[in-house]
Amino acid sequence: MNELDTIVQDAQAAFAAAPGPADLENAKAVFLGKTGRITELMKGMAALSVEEKKSRGAAINIAKQSIEAALTERRAALARAELDVQLRAEALDVTLPGRQRGQGGLHPVSLTLERIEAIFASMGFDVADGPEIESDWFNFTALNTPQDHPARSMHDTFYVEGGSAEAPNLLRTHTSPMQIRYAVQHVKKYSAATGAFATALFSGDMPEIRVIAPGRTYRVDSDATHSPMFHQCEGLWVGENVSFKDLKYVFTNFCRTFFESDDLVLRFRPSFFPFTEPSAEIDIQFQSGPLSGRWLEVAGSGQVHPNVIRNMGLDPEKYIGFAFGMGPDRLTMLRYGVNDLRLFFDGDIRFLSQFQA
Ligand code: PHE
Repeated sequence: MNELDTIVQDAQAAFAAAPGPADLENAKAVFLGKTGRITELMKGMAALSVEEKKSRGAAINIAKQSIEAALTERRAALARAELDVQLRAEALDVTLPGRQRGQGGLHPVSLTLERIEAIFASMGFDVADGPEIESDWFNFTALNTPQDHPARSMHDTFYVEGGSAEAPNLLRTHTSPMQIRYAVQHVKKYSAATGAFATALFSGDMPEIRVIAPGRTYRVDSDATHSPMFHQCEGLWVGENVSFKDLKYVFTNFCRTFFESDDLVLRFRPSFFPFTEPSAEIDIQFQSGPLSGRWLEVAGSGQVHPNVIRNMGLDPEKYIGFAFGMGPDRLTMLRYGVNDLRLFFDGDIRFLSQFQA
């Protein structure tokens, strides 16, 4: 093998052995650099004759071109390899699931309220909303609870600006003011034709009042089962012939539907509220499950007091009915087995997200 072939082979071997671009450029210098092997051969031509220079020069050029070709090829190979490494490092796995946006959902108490509304709507009840800042009249006086009535002390609340000294505004302590608000609107509507409402208690004909009023209520109270803000849902059914029997039927039916349990037992325990007479606390008892056998209070109720019927603008000789007020927070705790009410209002997403379907 002649000298030039050897140099070309050496160059090809050196280039192939270069692991990276910098090594390749160093290897190139060994052959094509200022003192490289090809360059040295060219320098050596000075001593040759013109004829010899021609043939020798052509041979060296061919060798040089081969070396340059090998160099170009190796450069391209190294560049490709580098790109491959980079692509592999930055590889995206397009088959991975995308990052999901957290999905919002309803608060467990809202889920309960929706459930309550749906069940009562199925029994022909309207759903009404009322103000949380209430006047003393609607919250107490109209509900047969005058200024110095002792029952007011159980309803200590937050008084807010506005109203008068005798009748201040306050954060409603229960949803019962909605009994008056809703009934007055209803009676106004149906007595408008006769104008009777303005002058006397209405004793004409009108459709029955059948409504629930869920919402936020407030009291100065705070422990594991009481929160200064809590929820209530009022129920009111007034007509010409609505009795305690109807209350029992409606509420029993509601509880059994709400808890999806037919063997739920209800107890109407005599109690006192100024705005109902007679009055009862409603307790429920599960016949199976973790709470089996315990009596749990879920609502206050009673037959609407004649004074309250009067404040609705109705003649108590003709109209009669029942009311109840239940605690949706309590119902939510029972339904989901939660034992600390405060968890509902701490806003901890780890707790709240467990209630999403
Ligand atoms: N408003 C009463 C309470 O908060 C509950 C109630 C409502 C009782 C309606 C009787 C009738 O304790």
